[in-house]
Amino acid sequence: MPDPSAPILIFDSGVGGLTVLAEVRKVLPQAPVIYVADRGALPYGDKSEAEIAARVCGLLGRLAERYHPRLICIACNTASTIALGMVREVLEVPIVGTVPAIKPAAAMTRTGVIGLLGTAATIRQGYVDQLESEFAGGKTLLRHAAPELVGAAELKLRGGSPDPAIFARAAEGLRSQPSGDQIDTVVLACTHFPLLEAELSAAFGGQVAFVDGAQGIARRVAYLTQGQPWDGPQGSQDQDFAIVTGDPADNPALLSALAPFGIGRILPL
Ligand code: DGL
Repeated sequence: MPDPSAPILIFDSGVGGLTVLAEVRKVLPQAPVIYVADRGALPYGDKSEAEIAARVCGLLGRLAERYHPRLICIACNTASTIALGMVREVLEVPIVGTVPAIKPAAAMTRTGVIGLLGTAATIRQGYVDQLESEFAGGKTLLRHAAPELVGAAELKLRGGSPDPAIFARAAEGLRSQPSGDQIDTVVLACTHFPLLEAELSAAFGGQVAFVDGAQGIARRVAYLTQGQPWDGPQGSQDQDFAIVTGDPADNPALLSALAPFGIGRILPL
């Protein structure tokens, strides 16, 4: 049995993992959480597979040694589709990854045409090809890399107003592909994107349903920690903290984004 104070570590390149943290809070309100934002390397989506794998394995190894989490959740599609296997090989702690929600999207679509928005690194992964052939056989899956949405989500959570043209371009990137006009379901295959669901919905004219993996991930985290002792009711939520890499000048703005998710402090790596 883990130490009752052992945290769950939730990891992303920036604020995207907060969409997963929000769902984890609902099912495990008593869990102490350390939120990790590798802002020093944001965005992951424009990096090579080798860079992402080395970065994620190195960082999670250091953090696991220092904080002894009972479970690590890689709340980032880019990092998971590239490095999940490797991280599982090097760390002994249970690891929950984030994979594009193609399976539920395939069950939801009525037209048989699914859109997928992700980072450039995610949409080119063989892992996505595998999910497509396993779960979306007989359907059409159209992919579009929308890296601008990552910056837009970061800006929105810091209180800024992203340029609406960014959302129009993301919708157009899918709609302009052959059969794109028949898309009725869009997979948000980057944890940053559910933070922009309202803006994206408007850009698609309210005509598509969005699906992401956050609830499924939270259920998996709850399942893997079932029956474990926690540090008391509501845990130490107001003492939960984030570890953030990169320039600390942005920390006050970032903290205002993290506070509604029960993160009260930012510590350096
Ligand atoms: N939130 C990340 C994802 O789910 C990636 C954002 C980035 O760093 O490019 O893919």
